[in-house]
Amino acid sequence: MPVAVKKQLLELLDKNHLNYCDLVSFFQNPDISVQEKERKASNFLKKEIQTVKAEAIEFPSHIDQIRVWLEEGNKTQCLEYQTYLERRKQGGDREYFKCISHAFEFLVKVAPVKKVDGAWLYSLVHYWNDPIFRDLIQIYIEELGLGSKKANHVCVFDDLILNLGLEHFVLDLEDEYYHQPAIQLALAYAPPEFIPEIIGFNLGYEQLPLHLLITNYELRELGIDPHYFNLHITIDNMDNGHADLSIKAFEKIYSKFKDKNTFIEKLKLGFALNDKGLSSKQIIKNLNLEALVLKILKRKALVGNVIHSDKCALNNKSINEWLGTPELVEEFVEVLIDKKWINLGQDPEQSRFWKLISHEEGKMYGVFNSTEKQIIYDWIAGTFFKDSNLPPQRIKLPHKNKDDFMFSFLSNGELEDIQQQISESGNLAVKMNKLLPYLAPHAHHRETGLWCTQRFVDFLFPFLSDKNLSRY
Ligand SMILES: [Fe+2]
Ligand SMILES: [Fe+2]
Repeated sequence: MPVAVKKQLLELLDKNHLNYCDLVSFFQNPDISVQEKERKASNFLKKEIQTVKAEAIEFPSHIDQIRVWLEEGNKTQCLEYQTYLERRKQGGDREYFKCISHAFEFLVKVAPVKKVDGAWLYSLVHYWNDPIFRDLIQIYIEELGLGSKKANHVCVFDDLILNLGLEHFVLDLEDEYYHQPAIQLALAYAPPEFIPEIIGFNLGYEQLPLHLLITNYELRELGIDPHYFNLHITIDNMDNGHADLSIKAFEKIYSKFKDKNTFIEKLKLGFALNDKGLSSKQIIKNLNLEALVLKILKRKALVGNVIHSDKCALNNKSINEWLGTPELVEEFVEVLIDKKWINLGQDPEQSRFWKLISHEEGKMYGVFNSTEKQIIYDWIAGTFFKDSNLPPQRIKLPHKNKDDFMFSFLSNGELEDIQQQISESGNLAVKMNKLLPYLAPHAHHRETGLWCTQRFVDFLFPFLSDKNLSRY
């Protein structure tokens, strides 16, 4: 079939989903059947792969070179990190996040992809009784924290976002931030013909990147819990972590594959899918606090009247009038700057607007929460604190470690149901097939999913179960 006709056909089949965010919702919807997801995944991946320039993929031409090539890449990243540390030791500035709000913005923008962490390997758990897939399934269940809430990567990231008060910002993101997660979810539901692409994607994704090391370092420095990032440094390593398991899995599966050339061609395409969408590095390069501040103000505008006393007027409009219309927010900010209610690049305490929202006697005190105030504060200050060598104000954030006291009083009976079904079925294959749907990307981080992951680990990886004694 001519390529253009094939492309048109695929587009026709897929026309009911216009953007990546919709695709993510589609794959994460528990009410849509696996068959439908598989069909959509296959069409979407074919379309994505069509846009990859195979000749431009940087990848060793010979199979024997792959391990060495990946190990060399890993060494280079570690060396570059050492150079970064040296620069910092010599008094160099942070290179990713100039202030705490930059880190907030970064965390918000990577959230869609972090919320599906590990998803690209989900389809492989269905081959649990084939030993050749064990290494990759091990990576998947380790991404799921072996069923422990404190170790499940999606739970850890969700907790971080929640503790920092950033969850509303994630809902506001543009579609481009959903491109890479849509790919990872499509791989989660990809039919067996995509196994080489999944292995190739995993090979690329499980390597330790420099940005992870620097992010971990700078978040810690800013007082933000870097646990999620640190977790990946310890388990995505070349020695015995996910990077190593990924190469072992590839070598084993490759040796069994009949058509080796096709396998490698498909593997390379899967590897290249890592570069689709926005990378962490691009996100860091494009951080823009002003855009984030505008979003905060627009959200307040949607809520309507924000202050009771309405006396102060700017350009013949009360603050309530300005903030009552989301379309006026940009102009409102310009007026605030123009009238010197906001003095950019100075100590925020010199700005009338900051006092209005942050001082207890301020007319707008209480309108903005701590996270929003921190973002507005950092935006107003700009480089002021760095230039003047004065310490910036750090707004107190809600405290963590509340998890140990969490308990759900409501139950829809789902967990009890599956617990009963598992205890009643004697056959391992039946048990496993009942557990698998709960290991899906939309389910594994919830109460039932965590319990099912634990049982899956007990049945298939009893040696890993011991690592997790605290669960019992
Ligand atoms: Fe992960
Ligand atoms: Fe990993």
